Amino acid sequence: MNRVFIKTYGCQMNERDSEAVAALLRARGYAIVDDEAAADVVLLNTCSVRDQAEQKAIGKAGYLKRRRRTNPRFVLGVMGCMAQNRGRDLLDQLPDLDLLVGTQKFHLVPDHLDRIIESLAAQGPRPATIVDLAAEEGSQNTIRDHLPQEKRVSAFVSIMQGCNMSCTFCIVPKTRGEERSRPIEAIVEEVEGLVAGGVREVTLLGQIVTSYGRGTIPDRAGKSPFVQLLERLEQIPGLARIRFTSPHPRGFKRDLVEAYRDLSKLCEYIHLPLQSGSDRMLRAMNRPYNVTLYRRIVDDLRAVHPEMYFSTDIIVGFPGETDDDFTATREVFREVGYDMAYIFKYSIRTGTPAATLPDQVPQEVKEARNQELLALLEAQSLRRNQALVGTVQEILVEGPGRRPERFTGRNRGNRVVHFPGSDRLIGRLVPVRIERATVSSLYGLPEVEAIHEIAGGPASAEPARHSA
Ligand code: 5AD
Repeated sequence: MNRVFIKTYGCQMNERDSEAVAALLRARGYAIVDDEAAADVVLLNTCSVRDQAEQKAIGKAGYLKRRRRTNPRFVLGVMGCMAQNRGRDLLDQLPDLDLLVGTQKFHLVPDHLDRIIESLAAQGPRPATIVDLAAEEGSQNTIRDHLPQEKRVSAFVSIMQGCNMSCTFCIVPKTRGEERSRPIEAIVEEVEGLVAGGVREVTLLGQIVTSYGRGTIPDRAGKSPFVQLLERLEQIPGLARIRFTSPHPRGFKRDLVEAYRDLSKLCEYIHLPLQSGSDRMLRAMNRPYNVTLYRRIVDDLRAVHPEMYFSTDIIVGFPGETDDDFTATREVFREVGYDMAYIFKYSIRTGTPAATLPDQVPQEVKEARNQELLALLEAQSLRRNQALVGTVQEILVEGPGRRPERFTGRNRGNRVVHFPGSDRLIGRLVPVRIERATVSSLYGLPEVEAIHEIAGGPASAEPARHSA
């Protein structure tokens, strides 16, 4: 009666929220299971960024509710962004939900589940859906528990919640509420705890991390609260790498560029959402920067790190996007030479300003523009990977790959690398000579001599075996 399966849709923030809910449930005596079919409770942690993501979760919930026919005690809940976005109206479509929990109430899921399971055990009539969607002061501080996991090398750390921007396409300010940041000390403590448990790399998460601490933590010596946080994390012994997502071009100031120069743990990989390469579109999207400013940030970063890796978010087919606007996007895409990108076809989000704009772009046009950028991305990604062939990359070893004796890890640029290895390398920084490249992966051999030096030998690393 207490096996819980959590299915997560959407972004890394959602993944992190699910993980924290799982940790709380486990502490309450629930078992977290990987097998949906074996679960007594299924929780869907949902995404609202595009209609497709919402439809997927609704479809899933509709399918799952049939489990009640054979197991009347089966519990089904919807959490997160879609719960917040649709609210009670969601019950018109999904009247069978036991639980509907918003983005500021994740920490109360164990209490709610306890209540539901108790009443089902009492075998009375099924209790009404528990709906908990209100805003809660301080809820940014409730996402802090991690599931203890053996050999986990990399972890997400939520540093803030919410978004104060008003991009005309975006539902997130509604689903995630206003910006609220956690204190620096609390984050440092969390990361120290993770490192003590074996974590070597953290990815700091926030809707707009460049706004971290604004209004609550003063600038110091010309440094924003976010850069102050990065500097503190740099000092944590045992932590090897720091990443974050996502910054906003508007808040990307000199202090952050200099952090890339000065902080050795900050990986030279950045996800910097562009959305469009047309100033006219950026204005219509209410994105407060222009392409010139964006290019300047890219140039500044390349000046401190010539090998910097760039990733981005692009929306194609925003209302009114002409061929010329799209061409401008394609040109910036090519010029920056993105190594990675998330390309979205514009999706109408009811209640946002862009939803009612005239000149909605036909689906086929969105599709064609999407395909064009995907093809460009593939070429650029392959070119970057090919350029790495013959170099030695510092790989943080994450774990075994799919093939026997194959291990995987990432270089500082977040490229996935496969190589022969052993369990003993997990969590270590290992130099790997890259021998082969595809669009999405690199293949190489550990440099065994150098492992001795880095790992403080005698390397338990077995000599590289050539299985490829
Ligand atoms: N349609 C398509 N993509 C969207 N995004 C946000 N809202 C929409 C929408 N309505 C994309 C943006 C954002 C990413 C997380 O999702 O590119 O950066």
